Amino acid sequence: MPSLAILGGPALRNRPFLQWPVFDAADRAALLRAFESGQWGGYGAAVQQFEAEFSKAHDSLYGITAANGTLSLEAALISCGIGPEDEVIVPPISFVATATAVLRVGAIPVFADIDARSYNLDPSSAAAAISPRTKAIIPVHFAGHAADMDDLMPLAAHHGLVVIEDCAHAHGASWRSRKVGSFGNFGSFSFQQSKNMTAGEGGILVTSDPKLAELAWSYANQGRAPHGAWYQHDRLGTNLRLTSLQSALLRAQLERLPTQMAKRKENAARLRAGLDASSILCAPYFDPRVTGHGLHLFVMRLNTQRCPGLSRDRVVEALIAEGIPSVSHYPYPLYRNKLFQNHRHRLLPCPNAEQMAQECLWLTNDVLLGSTDDVDDVLGAIAKVTRFAEELLVVNAERAQ
Ligand SMILES: Cc1ncc(COP(=O)(O)O)c(C=O)c1O
Repeated sequence: MPSLAILGGPALRNRPFLQWPVFDAADRAALLRAFESGQWGGYGAAVQQFEAEFSKAHDSLYGITAANGTLSLEAALISCGIGPEDEVIVPPISFVATATAVLRVGAIPVFADIDARSYNLDPSSAAAAISPRTKAIIPVHFAGHAADMDDLMPLAAHHGLVVIEDCAHAHGASWRSRKVGSFGNFGSFSFQQSKNMTAGEGGILVTSDPKLAELAWSYANQGRAPHGAWYQHDRLGTNLRLTSLQSALLRAQLERLPTQMAKRKENAARLRAGLDASSILCAPYFDPRVTGHGLHLFVMRLNTQRCPGLSRDRVVEALIAEGIPSVSHYPYPLYRNKLFQNHRHRLLPCPNAEQMAQECLWLTNDVLLGSTDDVDDVLGAIAKVTRFAEELLVVNAERAQ
């Protein structure tokens, strides 16, 4: 029987997977139109059209584009008046920007635990994190699976807290048929290279509050007033503007999003069906109230019953050696990053985040938008690694020494 590729056997697959980002003639034409319009910056027509289309697609009245999804989070916090000495509750399973945006505005991130199944902010841990200084909560719709808005929104309302949804993973996702980004005071999206919609970089805030929309737009545009003069600056702002070239690309991608979401759903269903109880990896939990999953990541968890003692990192190495691309994971919860040794934060017990960060791994666009054959190869590689799990334990022990 051929051995695992990590042990010198033949790899299950040598062909490349789909390349991300996906683009076609529509993107080229849109880009060329924006290029030839000559208005590359300064809130050109493509930017305004994109803001209107994206916010509408996310059940919101206003869209305010930004240079990226880190700065859009900062703009949301500033527009909501969050600043020095305020506390903001964040989950520790996210990209670092969720927490550093809070630090960048002078406020204090407070890490509460995640739910053990959805990997999103646990409303009961968020409730336990509330102090007299708490001003906001930033739930992250991790992997594209909406956070529990049934519990988080009433919690925030009860304590008078601002809610900024970090939707960087969740373009087009919904909770009880309502689009993410439309629950909180703001929803913040990223268009960074790996995201389900991308212009290389970019971000947007959505909101239905006209006052917040005006404040965010003004902050992103050097403190200008909506109908004010070019050199009139009413408040302290900065320049977060997105270009027309980026907006043109994003308009083309927004149009493609429903088709791609359907493909992601189909591939995720095939992956879930292929991961049974005997597999070394468990399929992700999908809350039935998630009516549209963004499926930015397909998160799998090590089946510790099937093979106790085997590390997630070894399984990742083994899958990559079999030719499965971009298998990835967060190495540890955010608060373990060195930066927090030098920056104020508060930490609740986060046993679920600690365990998740040791046991989970995920697949990305190249598999989720791939063909049926691609998905079957991934399942084949997982089955192969499962068959050789005992041998992998030996590699595990050797590497651990
Ligand atoms: C959950 C989350 N929030 C925020 C960001 C920040 O977005 P950007 O990279 O566009 O600054 C990212 C993206 O990397 C992210 O994954």
